[in-house]
Amino acid sequence: MITEHLTTSRDDIEKAAKIIAAGGLVAFPTETVYGLGADALNEKAVASVYEAKGRPSDNPMIVHIAKREDLDKLTPDRDPRIDKIADSIWPGPLTIVVSKRPEIPERTTGGLDTVAVRMPDSETALQLIEMAGCPIAAPSANLSGSPSPTRARDVAADMDGRIDAIIYGGDCRVGIESTVLDLTGAKATILRPGYITADALEEILGEDVEYDRALKGDPANEADFKPRSPGMKYKHYAPKAEMIVIKGRREDVADEIERRKKFAEEEGKKVGVIQFGEEAFAEAAHDFFSRLRDLDAQGVDLILAGALSDEDGVGFAVMNRMLKSAGYNVIRV
Ligand code: TXA
Ligand code: MG
Repeated sequence: MITEHLTTSRDDIEKAAKIIAAGGLVAFPTETVYGLGADALNEKAVASVYEAKGRPSDNPMIVHIAKREDLDKLTPDRDPRIDKIADSIWPGPLTIVVSKRPEIPERTTGGLDTVAVRMPDSETALQLIEMAGCPIAAPSANLSGSPSPTRARDVAADMDGRIDAIIYGGDCRVGIESTVLDLTGAKATILRPGYITADALEEILGEDVEYDRALKGDPANEADFKPRSPGMKYKHYAPKAEMIVIKGRREDVADEIERRKKFAEEEGKKVGVIQFGEEAFAEAAHDFFSRLRDLDAQGVDLILAGALSDEDGVGFAVMNRMLKSAGYNVIRV
């Protein structure tokens, strides 16, 4: 398959929208990461997304909408929490899980009776959804298991030849995927942490927001680690290189990284280091996935990453990605 490379011009977005309406696959920018879009109501199109990504088919997708009214076509839920969120966050990097209408194919929701929905904060994405005339199911536009793409060239590296088109829309502003918030139970529960933090959500909802147990638990402890979001159980975001996260006081972490780097280099290994500024959480979110991809492209054998403080909500979200990338390979100093 030859993949068309498109711009964000109106004509090109229109072309992309036609591809989606006809059952094809288009990668497009959002404010979080690039998505790989298909008509969410077209079972065959959705199946081909799984194929292009090499993704296990029980992992449900996020359905993207352009207007508040679009949500009512996907869910019968009339939860007042939905309006609070839609009014204050959408368009933005937050996904809600609500009960699904029967019109949504099982393929889209991985057989669940719930659906994940978000309105992305990207003009290009919103125009694409409007012009396609359907909600767009879109997982991140990477091969399953590799780091999420935050730049069009990262999408091309994974998806060229596997999908119909890529819209080149520049770098993603946020850089990590949306916060996923489950609203199907009495307590609003974060299934995936992101740029929209628990504190911000509590403020907006005026009630407590919980974290899914699997997020705070110890992955070595099975009972702690029964994910409610199917996407949390797979190997994720992994670079090709071996990766170690170093955790501890800032100076100790820097020393340990230096020591290990020297040692590995003496063994003839090529080493990459990822260390963000102390309070630079937004910058870390923005850069993390692209740093992994750049280090892989440079052919490093080992990546040493300094842990961020996970007290801050965005720091917690970045650490969630960092620990998964490293396969929970952590050294405390
Ligand atoms: O920022 C984002 O959310 C990006 C952009 C493209 O919008 N999309 C994204 O999609 O990250 P994906 O497929 O890589 O991640 C979707 C996550 C997975 O962890 C999945 O398990 C969870 O959302 N999810 C989807 N539907 C769900 C449902 N009905 N119940 C619980 N979790 C669900
Ligand atoms: Mg993903």
